[in-house]
This record gives sequence, structure tokens and C-alpha cells, in this order.
Amino acid sequence: MRRIPYLLAITVALAAISTPAVGQMAEPTNLKVLDSKMTGMEVMQVMRGFATGLGVRCDHCHMGEDGQPLSSFDFASDEKEAKNVAREMLRMTMAINDSHIAPLGREDPYKVECVTCHRGLAKPTTLERELSTAYDDTGVAGAIERYASLREEYEGSGAFDFREQPLIMYASDLLRGGKPDEGIQILETATKYFPESAEPHMMLGMTYLSSGDKENAKKHAEAAFAIDPENRRVKRLMQQLESQD
Ligand code: HEC
Ligand code: HEC
Repeated sequence: MRRIPYLLAITVALAAISTPAVGQMAEPTNLKVLDSKMTGMEVMQVMRGFATGLGVRCDHCHMGEDGQPLSSFDFASDEKEAKNVAREMLRMTMAINDSHIAPLGREDPYKVECVTCHRGLAKPTTLERELSTAYDDTGVAGAIERYASLREEYEGSGAFDFREQPLIMYASDLLRGGKPDEGIQILETATKYFPESAEPHMMLGMTYLSSGDKENAKKHAEAAFAIDPENRRVKRLMQQLESQD
């Protein structure tokens, strides 16, 4: 039996169920990275992994129009930049698996695929990076807006981590970077999205305390205490406030 490239092996099972009429794919004529002996159907199954991993359609990398029959596409053409980048990515992914994962000698090696980094995004990124880019463009209001629109578009997809921690980390970055007002706005946003989380309230309490706004410090310390009365940092904040009364 011919050795099946790993990318193919992963997608074969799924594609066998979900792919209509792949038997009609023309034989490939321009493979430079994949095994040039692969059939049209085998290539097609790898391509499904590319498209799902990046959350795109075939026309992202190939000349043709989404929604039109595949027979109208020119898949051999190298005109689209994304296809050429994808080739380099394919080389990189193979090198990671062959030169860095395989030598670990695992019994059942955990192979890197496009989706491992891309997680359904055409270009891999993180929530913090997106927020800080939006911030650089349009300030803290832009970052908050970006957060809302990313959640709307990607919640549940696994493309971004929408738990509270990245938002809190981003707020910490702003506070540490000497931007208390902006940090406070991000933390306020966190309290709205995560009303059950004590941490944003606790951080707001600490931030207000250090800026001398005792009224707001108390309000947030109490909110944090109501959510998580056993939290030692919350308790300490309450004590600090009481000792200043
Ligand atoms: C992220 C970019 C990307 C996406 C999305 C993508 N492809 Fe490809 N495709 C490539 C690359 C890169 C090659 C060339 C691989 C090589 O040189 O070994 C290729 C090659 C092919 C070939 C072989 C062409 C030939 O004659 O050599 C076919 C057929 C093909 N793709 C079909 C598809 C289909 C169908 C889809 C949608 C399900 C798709 N591709 C989605 C990047 C992509
Ligand atoms: C180890 C992580 C990693 C893996 C695995 C990976 N990529 Fe990427 N990919 C990246 C990063 C990071 C970028 C952004 C590079 C840049 O433009 O600065 C990127 C960018 C791209 C782009 C260009 C995006 C754009 O809009 O400019 C394409 C196309 C792409 N990857 C395709 C693939 C395909 C297809 C695979 C699987 C064969 C793959 N990648 C596997 C990390 C990865």
C-alpha cells in the first residue's frame, strides 16, 4: 500500500462521508509540495482540511467564483498569493511534524495541522492582539467595539478565547502601561460580560483605591466579596479599605 501523507489520512474519514462527487475531480497537474502522484480525489480531501482549518472557501486560494461548479475553477493556476503562502505553510507544517514531532518518538504522535494554529481563521491571531490593534486605531472605545463584534461573529467557534482571562490580562496591560482610565473601561466591560466573575470587580476596587477614589473602590470590593467571599485577595482588599475608614 502506498504511504498516505498524514494530512490526507486525517481528512479521509470525514471527507468520505461529506464530499459529494469528488470522483469527478480532474487529476492534478501542478503539485509542488504534495506527493505528485496523488489523485484528484486525494488532493480534494487535503483541500477540505485547508478550507476548514482556515475558515475559508476554495476561492480564497484558487481562481474561480464561490458558489460556481468546481469544474469552472482553475485549480492549477498559481495566480493567487494565498495559494503560494499556503504552499510555504504546508512545507512548514510538514517540517514541524517530520523534523520536530517525529523525533520525540511518541507512540501515537500528535500531528500539527493547519487548524492547530489557524483555528478557523484565515490569519491566526489572538483576542489580546485584536484588541490592542483596535486600540491603536481608535482608542479604548474601538477596542470595546471590536470585542463585541468578535464575540458576535466567533462565539462558540473556538477561534478566540472568550473567557474572562484575556480581557483581564488586556486590562492589566493598560493599567501597567500607565493608562488607568482605559484599563478601568476594559474592566467595566468585563463586569458586564462576566457578571459572575469576582476578578474584574476586585481589580477595579484595587485600581480605584490606588487612585484615591474610595467610594468606587468600596462599591467594587463589595461586589467582588458578594460573588466570592472566600477569595483571599478580595478579603485583603476589604481589610485595606476598612483600615482606611
Ligand atoms: C489555503 C489555501 C487553499 C485553499 C483554501 C484550497 N486550496 Fe487547493 N491548493 C492549495 C495549494 C497550496 C495547492 C498546491 C499544493 C502543492 O503544490 O503541492 C492546491 C492544489 C489544489 C488542486 C490541485 C491543482 C493541480 O492541478 O495541481 C486542486 C484540485 C485543489 N487545490 C482544489 C481545491 C478545492 C476544491 C478547494 C476547496 C475545497 C481548495 N483547493 C482549497 C491551496 C488551497
Ligand atoms: C505553526 C502555526 C501555523 C500552522 C501549522 C499553519 N499556519 Fe498558516 N499562518 C501562520 C501564521 C503565524 C500566519 C501569519 C503570518 C503573517 O502574515 O505574518 C499564517 C498565515 C497563513 C496564510 C496567509 C494569511 C494572510 O491572510 O496573509 C495562509 C494562506 C496560511 N497561513 C495557510 C496555512 C495552511 C494551508 C496551513 C496548513 C497546511 C497552515 N497555514 C498552517 C501559522 C501557521
